[in-house]
Amino acid sequence: MREIIVSGMRPTGRLHLGHYHGVLKNWLRLQDEAECYFFVADWHALTTHYETTHGISVAVWDLLIEWLAVGVDPDKAVLFIQSHVPEHAELALLLGMLTPLSWLERVPTFKDQQEKLRERDLATFGFLGYPLLMTADILVYDAHKVPVGADQVAHLEISRELARRFNSFYGRDADAAAQVEKALQVMGKRAAKTFLSLQQRFQQDGDALAVSEAAVFLGGQAGLSTEMREQLLAHLEGKGREILREPQALLTAASKMPGLDGQKMSKSYGNTIPLREAPEVVQKKIRTMPTDPARVARTDPGTPEKCPVWALHQVYSGPETQAWVRNGCTTAGIGCLDCKQPVIEAVLAEQAPIRERAEYWAARPEQLTEIAHAGAQRARQRAAQTLERVRAAMGLAHERHDR
Ligand code: TRP
Ligand code: SF4
Repeated sequence: MREIIVSGMRPTGRLHLGHYHGVLKNWLRLQDEAECYFFVADWHALTTHYETTHGISVAVWDLLIEWLAVGVDPDKAVLFIQSHVPEHAELALLLGMLTPLSWLERVPTFKDQQEKLRERDLATFGFLGYPLLMTADILVYDAHKVPVGADQVAHLEISRELARRFNSFYGRDADAAAQVEKALQVMGKRAAKTFLSLQQRFQQDGDALAVSEAAVFLGGQAGLSTEMREQLLAHLEGKGREILREPQALLTAASKMPGLDGQKMSKSYGNTIPLREAPEVVQKKIRTMPTDPARVARTDPGTPEKCPVWALHQVYSGPETQAWVRNGCTTAGIGCLDCKQPVIEAVLAEQAPIRERAEYWAARPEQLTEIAHAGAQRARQRAAQTLERVRAAMGLAHERHDR
């Protein structure tokens, strides 16, 4: 069986070369290796933009167009729009029943984003629940792996913890529960209390040390049989039958894509080259990029390491061109505009087929709709299987009165 991979992107405006080099090239590789579910996270966009929703629809289709333009392939990966698959919402609702508020409140992005986006009121249930919705996005497909950037790791950790918590509640048969109960009685009230606090440390605070401490502690409880000890330890770790798979983070190597000013390319720094930027604008943006400030006059030598153009040569130029830059820069043999020319050409060459395909898809709204609908259908089929298991496990398999 191929591995299942899930990833989503929020529709928040046009993509830039940083997205291409950092995320999408990775998707292109993954779609050949795994069963991939890639979706436009429109509900997630609402968690921060619920007051100003006018741009979302345009952004949704733009995002899909750009995925197709770079080569994400609907025959290989399942491409869809999150809100077309209501199963995400149902699973989020059900998982919400067992999600401790404290888990959500302690996610670093919760407070950070509230501080950063002060102009928006983010003291909402939806925003707090962002990681919970993201968890549902992932668990509903039984994902093995989730490609994420460093900023999403804390969210994925919640997904893992929630899967574990779910399995520990519902993945155990009644027999095992009774055995745990009995073992706790054998231990006596005080020891049982110690055990339960260790369990809490592990399950709620994620303190892995609590497991080894518990093993030692249980070892010292003379009244317990070996079997009881094992049962209790499994209980502490939340090891029930696996109903929901615990996903692994597939950490995307931090995007090295430098922006026009040498910092990481990011919309918030205003240093991007959008994926579909017009060629004249690309040319102008690169031509006006800052260079090593030591090169005031054409005859002043420079140091490539102090220049953001050099960072782009790392991405776009082979060893020969790089040697030409180093030599020309340090000896003032070339001017900065000469130096920038190969970068301009490489970026334009990279963008040309992307721009062409984006235009192709932008002109075919029916086909685009078709792709999204077919993707949603496939996604729903897969998601429905998980939900059936989840409903049954949670005691909701009562669609008919048969007694
Ligand atoms: N939170 C992600 C982001 O802001 C987007 C996202 C939503 C996602 N659901 C997901 C990513 C599920 C991976 C898996 O970038
Ligand atoms: Fe930067 Fe190239 Fe100019 Fe050197 S020659 S300062 S590397 S643009």
